[in-house]
Amino acid sequence: MQRKGIILAGGTGTRLWPVTLGVSKQLLPIYDKPMVYYPLSVLMLAGLREIAVITTPHDQEQFRRTLGDGSQWGIRLSYITQPSPDGLAQAYLLAEEFLAGAPSAMILGDNLFFGHGLPELMAAADARTVGGTVFGYHVADPERYGVVAFDAAGQAREIIEKPARPPSNHAVTGLYFLDGSAPARARRVTPSARGELEIVSLLGMYLAEGILAVERMGRGFAWLDTGTHASLLDAGNFVHTLQSRQGLQTGSPDEVAWRQGWIDDAALRERARIFARNDYGRYLSALPDSPG
Ligand code: TTP
Repeated sequence: MQRKGIILAGGTGTRLWPVTLGVSKQLLPIYDKPMVYYPLSVLMLAGLREIAVITTPHDQEQFRRTLGDGSQWGIRLSYITQPSPDGLAQAYLLAEEFLAGAPSAMILGDNLFFGHGLPELMAAADARTVGGTVFGYHVADPERYGVVAFDAAGQAREIIEKPARPPSNHAVTGLYFLDGSAPARARRVTPSARGELEIVSLLGMYLAEGILAVERMGRGFAWLDTGTHASLLDAGNFVHTLQSRQGLQTGSPDEVAWRQGWIDDAALRERARIFARNDYGRYLSALPDSPG
């Protein structure tokens, strides 16, 4: 069964108030593109063409306006609402019908990934048909995340949510490849002390059965989250620096769709025309003739 994608883009974004009082965090700009473009591009790089976007009920319209039905990128986008932000694992309950038994790759709508070899890393995760794969990333402040505890042999033993005393510096990133059993397992997750269906509880079930691979995402990758004012600015500056230096886009669903062969030169040029007044449009329009 073909793996399907989920972008979890609900939440309240309280840490970004007052900015997010009127607009969804995942629609804020990361330099020149809406935040949600970046996680969407990651799922497209993984080869996924059927993707559900989970939003709050009141933000859904703006997401539809921003992303449409996906046909401009040769993919299918559907929209699911999450009435209240009851935790990351709830996404699998909300998406159960959409998934219809298929394995999934879920990405958090405010997570940015960049690095050479990302498609290969995801292809390896996609190839694992039983259980799942998550990625551990070395961070300076693990206590803010789900943290991996390794045993003496370096095998992942446990994942602990926001531990006061982190057992390692390896945070679990917001990209989860799980098999078709995720919704059924999510139904067995009970709310935590903070009242959320925790993703670490769901991952813990896989881990207990020995079917969760915790791959290390090395220091050659950038994993940025954008939940605070400073980290949002940092992410924008990162993208600006990178794109200005390289003359290449990161997080462009238009470019990924074209490189995947899901849209042809004419369709890409049509997209480019929409953005003809800025560098993004000029970049897209030059792609088919670029020497590489
Ligand atoms: P968080 O950053 O934990 O929550 P938030 O985005 O609501 O922000 P804040 O902490 O400032 O209030 O969420 C991580 C991602 O998951 C983010 O993209 C929002 C999304 N999310 C949901 O879509 N539904 C949920 O129930 C939760 C908890 C998060």
